[in-house]
Amino acid sequence: MAEPLLEARGVVKRFGHVHALQGADFAAYAGEVVALIGDNGAGKSTLVGVLSGVLAPDEGAILLDGAPVRFAGPQDARRAGVETVYQDLSLAQDLDAPANLYLGRELVRKGVLGRLGVLDRPAMRRDAVRAFAELGVTLKDPTVPVAALSGGQRQSVAVARAVAFANRVVFLDEPTAALGVVQRARVLETVRRVADRGIGVVLISHNMPEVLSVADRVEVLRLGRRVASLRAADTTIEELVGAMTGSLDRGDAADAATLVAAPETPLERPQQEPEPQPSEEEA
Ligand SMILES: Nc1ncnc2c1ncn2[C@@H]1O[C@H](COP(=O)(O)OP(=O)(O)OP(=O)(O)O)[C@@H](O)[C@H]1O
Ligand SMILES: [Mg+2]
Repeated sequence: MAEPLLEARGVVKRFGHVHALQGADFAAYAGEVVALIGDNGAGKSTLVGVLSGVLAPDEGAILLDGAPVRFAGPQDARRAGVETVYQDLSLAQDLDAPANLYLGRELVRKGVLGRLGVLDRPAMRRDAVRAFAELGVTLKDPTVPVAALSGGQRQSVAVARAVAFANRVVFLDEPTAALGVVQRARVLETVRRVADRGIGVVLISHNMPEVLSVADRVEVLRLGRRVASLRAADTTIEELVGAMTGSLDRGDAADAATLVAAPETPLERPQQEPEPQPSEEEA
């Protein structure tokens, strides 16, 4: 397999006494949708924070194209082509959706003297409306502040912003959690299209059918560590749930070790047959 675009090796992150990440590994590859799954509190959002420049790791390394990097902040990660939709979103509530789409990189039209740039609002609005339409979102009035949109509409604005500008890796932390059926399907189609552009897409989701339908690969995080990396086509909901909850370990630490995929062999599988699991996946 090719070298990962973005990789975490042995990342440790503590919040006071909480060990959110305890030597976590992770890899995203170009042109691939990789799902990052795990129970509530497994460390998924923390790992996204570390890989997108929001959180500084206490230990471990981040590698971009195989070379160690240290993102000074999210802007720094963005400049390196790493875009993120955070779980708590992070939109400017008092700006409208087009302004949010272009926040920090507004389209500038040359002024008359070619020196003073002015914001090209009509072009921004036009592009934004098209980007939202692709995600199945029709904004009745693109000029209202996003604070006045529905939760699902706001989520779509955040997704549109990330995928519009991603050029290497895009993290989507539960991007469909608040979406209706149509918008959810559109976001998943968009995720696929973005990966087909050669971008590495990292999808965090608690919806196992969604994960298996859109992801090429699934990395499972438990208690701040990667415990499995599985090809989506070769796994089942039962196997994913088993890896997430640790029931595949049967309480045996040696078994847990067999689940850990080394960065060089990202497609290792658990050895045991899964315990019978309820097929309900929603957390
Ligand atoms: N800013 C913070 N301060 C203190 N503890 C934190 C902070 N952020 C995360 N944690 C803790 O770190 C652990 C991992 O949290 P994280 O948000 O990464 O989990 P997650 O896998 O994203 O969960 P979820 O599926 O619920 O979103 C949890 O125990 C959480 O309480
Ligand atoms: Mg989270």
